[in-house]
Amino acid sequence: MKANDIILAKIQSLNHNGEGVFKTKDITIFVPRGVPGDTLKVKVKKLRKNYGSGEIIAIVKPSPLRVNPECKAFENGCGGCQWLHIDYKTQLLWKARIVNKILGVALNENIKVLPCLGMKEPYHYRNKLSLNREDSKNSKKLGLMKENSLEIVEFDYCKQELESNQKAYEIIRKQRIPFSITQIHVRSNQKGETGIYFYAPTNTKTISNFSKELLQKIKDLKGVGLSTHNDYYHLVGEKVIKEDIGDLNYLIPINGFFQTNYTQAQQLQEIVFDLLKPTKKDKILDLYCGAGFFSLFLAKEVESVYGIENNSSSIESAIRNAKINNITNANFVCADVKEEIVSFRKKSIDCIILDPPRVGSEIEVLDEIVKMKPKKIIYISCSPQSLARDLKSLSHLYKITFCKPVDMFPHTYHIEVVVKLELNASDSHKKMEVKKAEVKKTPIIIKKNFDLKKVKNIKPKENKKIILKKSKNKEKT
Ligand SMILES: C[S@@+](CC[C@H](N)C(=O)[O-])C[C@H]1O[C@@H](n2cnc3c(N)ncnc32)[C@H](O)[C@@H]1O
Repeated sequence: MKANDIILAKIQSLNHNGEGVFKTKDITIFVPRGVPGDTLKVKVKKLRKNYGSGEIIAIVKPSPLRVNPECKAFENGCGGCQWLHIDYKTQLLWKARIVNKILGVALNENIKVLPCLGMKEPYHYRNKLSLNREDSKNSKKLGLMKENSLEIVEFDYCKQELESNQKAYEIIRKQRIPFSITQIHVRSNQKGETGIYFYAPTNTKTISNFSKELLQKIKDLKGVGLSTHNDYYHLVGEKVIKEDIGDLNYLIPINGFFQTNYTQAQQLQEIVFDLLKPTKKDKILDLYCGAGFFSLFLAKEVESVYGIENNSSSIESAIRNAKINNITNANFVCADVKEEIVSFRKKSIDCIILDPPRVGSEIEVLDEIVKMKPKKIIYISCSPQSLARDLKSLSHLYKITFCKPVDMFPHTYHIEVVVKLELNASDSHKKMEVKKAEVKKTPIIIKKNFDLKKVKNIKPKENKKIILKKSKNKEKT
C-alpha cells in the first residue's frame, strides 16, 4: 500500500479521535467519518510503517449505524461535531469502549467501565459557542473551524447550540466586527440570557464601542468582556450570567469555565455526590474548582470544602455563589493548584475532587495527593488520555472502584469520565514520601470586606495567591 492508492476499506471500530478504523494484518488506516460496518472506497493519504490515514472517496455500502446528519455545516466539514452521522446509542457504546481501551492499555489491566450516561434529548445542549474568524486579508468569515484545519465554516443553524447562542451568532455576523477581534465566545443560560467575550491582541476604543453596539442589538445580552494575551477587561454590562442547577444558583463569569451542558452537569453533580456519600465530618478539597460547581453542591452535607482555582473571575464568582446560596463552610483560593495544594497537607482532607483542564493534572499535584493520602479521590476528566496518565501515577496507592463516562458532548468524540479512586487499606498508614522541597510564596490575604475589583486584575501568571475569606455581608445579585 502507498499514498494515493484507492482501497476498499471495511470499517471495524472508532478510535479516540472519532475516526473510523480499518485494520488489516499489516496496517491500520484511520478514516475520518468512517462508521463501524461501512464499506468505503478510501484514498490513502499519509502512510507510516504500520498505520496511515485515508479519505472517503465513496460509500460503497453504508453501515446500518449511519444516520442522516441533517446539517449543512457538517456536510461542509464543520469541526463542531464529528459524530453527527452516527446513531446516538452507538456513540454512547463507543465512548465507553474507547475509555475501556485507553485505560486498559495505560494501566495494563481491564478496567470495568460502566455504560456512558447519555441524554434523552441530545440536541441544543451547548451553552457556549466559540466562534473563530478567518485570518485572511480577503475574508473575515465568522464561524466554527473545520476539523484539523484553520478554515472557517459559517452555519445557518446549529442543532447543538442553545437557541440564544444561535440568535446571538446571527446578529453578530451581520455587524462590522473590528478587524483585530480573532475570536468571539458566546455563553447563554437556560433563560436565554447571554454573555460575550472577545479575543483580540489589545484593548481599543473600537472594540469597546463594538461591545456597546452589541449590547443594544442583542436583546438578552447581559455583558461583554475582552480577553487579550495577558489581561481580561470587562467592557460593558454585567460580568456574569445566572443559572440555576438543582437547588443552587450560580453566577457564571462570562470569561470563566462552566460545564457546557447544563442538563448533564446536574447528572455529574449527582454522580459525584453518590460516590462520595458525604458526611458532616468530611473535609473536601476541590482542585480546579472553577466557580464552585462541585464545592457548593457538596458544602451543605460536609464539614467544610476548600476550592482552588487560578482564574480570578471564577474565584470571584465562587465566593459570590457561596454567599447567594447561604453557604458558609466553603473557602476559595485563587492560586495555581500546584503551588497551593501543599498548604493542605496538614488539614486532614478526607476526599479530593480533581477536575483539571484537558491536559490533566501536573505531576507535582499528583505527588502531593499521594503524600496527603485522602481516602477517596473523585477524578472528573474530559480527556481519557490524560486521565489514564494521571491514574497511572496514583495506581500504586489507589484502586479504581468506579468508572463511568457521562455524555457532556453528544455528537462529538469528546468524552467526560468520572472515576472514583479509593486508598488501598494496606497503604493508609505508610509514611509520606516528600520528593520536592516546598516553595511557599507570600499570599495576599484579603479578609472580610475584600474588594472584588482588586481580585479582578490579578493574573495567575503573577504567581500571587489571593486567599478570600468569608465575608458576613450579604451579596446583592
Ligand atoms: C475542567 S475545568 C473544571 C472547573 C470546575 N470543577 C467546574 O466543574 O466548573 C478546569 C478548571 O481549572 C482551572 N485551571 C486550569 N489550570 C489551573 C491551575 N494550574 N491551577 C488552578 N486552576 C487551574 C481552569 O480555569 C478551569 O476553571
